[in-house]
Amino acid sequence: MSIPDTIAWDPEKECIRYIDQTRLPGHPIIVECRTVQRLAIAIRRLQVRGAPALGVAGAFGVALAAVTCKKKGLAAFLADVRRHGTLLAAIRPTAINLSWGVNRVLTAMERAESVRDAKQFALVEAQAVAREDEVCCRAIGGYGAALLPGTCTVLTHCNAGALACKAWGTALGVIRSAVRQGKDVRVIACETRPLLQGARLTAWELEEEGIDVTVITDSMGAHLMRGGTIDMVIVGADRITHDAVFNKIGTYMLAVCARHHGIPFYVAAPLSTFDPDHSETDVVIEERDRNEVATCGKRTTVPKGVKVCNPAFDATPMNLVTAIITDQGVLRPPIDMKGLRLNHPPG
Ligand code: MRU
Repeated sequence: MSIPDTIAWDPEKECIRYIDQTRLPGHPIIVECRTVQRLAIAIRRLQVRGAPALGVAGAFGVALAAVTCKKKGLAAFLADVRRHGTLLAAIRPTAINLSWGVNRVLTAMERAESVRDAKQFALVEAQAVAREDEVCCRAIGGYGAALLPGTCTVLTHCNAGALACKAWGTALGVIRSAVRQGKDVRVIACETRPLLQGARLTAWELEEEGIDVTVITDSMGAHLMRGGTIDMVIVGADRITHDAVFNKIGTYMLAVCARHHGIPFYVAAPLSTFDPDHSETDVVIEERDRNEVATCGKRTTVPKGVKVCNPAFDATPMNLVTAIITDQGVLRPPIDMKGLRLNHPPG
């Protein structure tokens, strides 16, 4: 079965439709989102998640703010939409795509001469962001698939698949493209504590497409590398500065282990995930609620009063990265970020 679009604009109902990822695995439930407040909750709860999908959500979120805004004069209208965009962009600070998607649409609205124009520009630009995301993922898939031998086992972390993008995926897009080319690819998916994006989402979408997948706990990767099971690691990214790749917590540990065992460590990401203006130390790592770690279903697993640390992401230094597979080709560090053709509106 092919996976439905993760997120899309419904032009008739003038609302956002997205798959509620907290309900997976299982039958995908499509939610119709009609207010920016509802979208903000969905992003906070990770009903919509994954950097490129957050970029599309940010873009559609600004379009939704524009469509639902009741302000009459252009200046008041733009100020209100901008306020909503700023609120959305701040919800998940590490994934740069969210603020990138918001700013792309806000910037497109600035050339409007009427409220009507502004609404139209917002919708057109948001649709463009969504369309481009899928095009980028398919390009990443094509460039990345060429790096995979005819038969191989790939370890991945979190979910950098169709569910993390509009469609197709980045890391899983590479695997999808390789499988379509007739390559025999087996996937090892780390379960990805605490929210289990690997076990719930990566395993679900690969299984739906008949791609061979095995789930392991996050602490098993090094053991499998040492045993010679893993040919390469491919992960996605939430932000790429000139000196580091930010991705789901646990990625750095895998990169260190891969280097120790001489295994290639690839990152697959569109250029919208690049942040050429900042360094690792400038980036805020999102800290999430203790209950994500301290509970398992309805059970409390950490004694009350004991401290919990729950960073959602970590930074992998660029010297541990073999290559970054982008929509414009494969980049090998050191990367000249200034030389890249980035479509980054002013934030
Ligand atoms: O907290 P999440 O689930 O949004 O984290 C997602 C990841 O870390 C992904 O690996 C990353 O966004 C790349 S998705 C193509």
